[in-house]
Amino acid sequence: MKIAVIGTGYVGLVTGTCFANLGHQVICLDNDAEKISHLKAGSLPLYEPGLGELFQKNKTAGRLDFTTDFKAAVASSEVIFITVGTPDKGNGEADLSAIEAVTKQIGSLMTQYKLVVEKSTVPVETGKWIEYTIRLNSQNRVQFDVASNPEFLREGSAVEDFMNPDRIVIGVESPRAEQILRELYCSFSAPVIVTDVRSAELIKHASNSFLSMKISFINAIANICERVGADVVKVSEAVGLDRRIGKDFLNAGVGFGGSCFPKDIAAFIRLADKVGYDFKLLKAVEEINRGQRRWLVHKIENALWILEGKTIGILGLAFKPGTDDLRNAPSLELMEYLLKEGGRVKAYDPQAMEKTKKLFPAVKYCSDPYETARDSDCLVLMTEWDEFKKLDFKMIKTLMKQPILVDGRNLYQPFEMNQMGFQYIGVGRKQVVTKDQRIVEWTKSLYNTL
Ligand SMILES: NC(=O)c1ccc[n+]([C@@H]2O[C@H](COP(=O)([O-])OP(=O)(O)OC[C@H]3O[C@@H](n4cnc5c(N)ncnc54)[C@H](O)[C@@H]3O)[C@@H](O)[C@H]2O)c1
Repeated sequence: MKIAVIGTGYVGLVTGTCFANLGHQVICLDNDAEKISHLKAGSLPLYEPGLGELFQKNKTAGRLDFTTDFKAAVASSEVIFITVGTPDKGNGEADLSAIEAVTKQIGSLMTQYKLVVEKSTVPVETGKWIEYTIRLNSQNRVQFDVASNPEFLREGSAVEDFMNPDRIVIGVESPRAEQILRELYCSFSAPVIVTDVRSAELIKHASNSFLSMKISFINAIANICERVGADVVKVSEAVGLDRRIGKDFLNAGVGFGGSCFPKDIAAFIRLADKVGYDFKLLKAVEEINRGQRRWLVHKIENALWILEGKTIGILGLAFKPGTDDLRNAPSLELMEYLLKEGGRVKAYDPQAMEKTKKLFPAVKYCSDPYETARDSDCLVLMTEWDEFKKLDFKMIKTLMKQPILVDGRNLYQPFEMNQMGFQYIGVGRKQVVTKDQRIVEWTKSLYNTL
């Protein structure tokens, strides 16, 4: 099939490359001319495991091309996927101006039947507006269909997720559109849910809301664990073994970030408000997530007291492992606060440092975790990259000014860290009291009774 993908970001590039790899002829378009010229020259603008090989293979085979020429992209395709960004307008509402802009172009340029598929995450009724806009801008009454095919891939495992989805959702209003999309996905073994466009749009919002609700739920439990001396890791392990609940997205930590959850939840709350439903549950999810950021700052201040002049080493900058994406990454908010308070910040991330340098030039970027730890008063783990799982903490302890470790992702074992002499602060972890601390407490209580 001949496919155009409009918007060559994380979703567009993965979608285009994977469809090309399935044997389709794909042209990816973007209005960022620099990005397209890099892609044409063979270099990827983002990091995503496994994408590089597929990209090179299909580009060389002539199945994957890149352009800024809208006319050429529309003319050469039967199916047009819209994968442009739908960021937060600033008030929680989704900014659909890029969707409108590309829809106008498609309408004015098409000269024969097109299936226009929204893959970007959009509020319900966007499909209706896309159809209206195409009709308004199409000069010669060309036939077309609008469909919704939401994307569920996760950054960090995007290629794997795209090729092996849990389900494929097809929102259509005509048998012709359904048939084309079924054919496009015929080699996938996942269940196909065929529904109307509005329901497909809602499925994406409902899915992301549910996943973020699980994260905020376990973070709320972590807060209670800390207050009663329980261990959230054990609680979540046992809760997650219930098949009705499942273990995914039940890891307590500094809260969710990224380009999707925060904006999608905000947009869903706004949409619900608009249609007259006060989505209190999702508002609480947002508030608990904000609370986790405050928790982090509170723990660091509790350990260091005054931040001015102190050195804080940050391990991990990307909003999650496996990506260089920094959008809404908790690390950014933290670094901004630490610098504002006069702290010195050192940081290391296996993939996201180049992008962070542009945003935070005052941070000292390190070549590895050990350099980050050197002379730090506190080390804060923000992203659970695999390489952080096997660090030599005995060495790290000798490098640090004070052995204080704030583990924002519960990657380490409190007992082991304490044994090594670290003051370990996890999220909702049972505090282990060392022998020295016990002696201090015992002496204090003895003194009080005299
Ligand atoms: N990133 C994810 O993990 C993910 C997963 C599922 C769904 N989504 C959704 O997919 C959509 C795209 O997300 P993304 O992360 O790929 O965004 P992105 O910012 O990485 O990519 C969007 C691309 O669209 C291009 N663009 C913007 N306006 C354009 C225009 N008028 N004409 C042509 N190109 C234009 C941008 O230059 C950019 O390259 C969003 O709606 C997002 O919510 C994202």
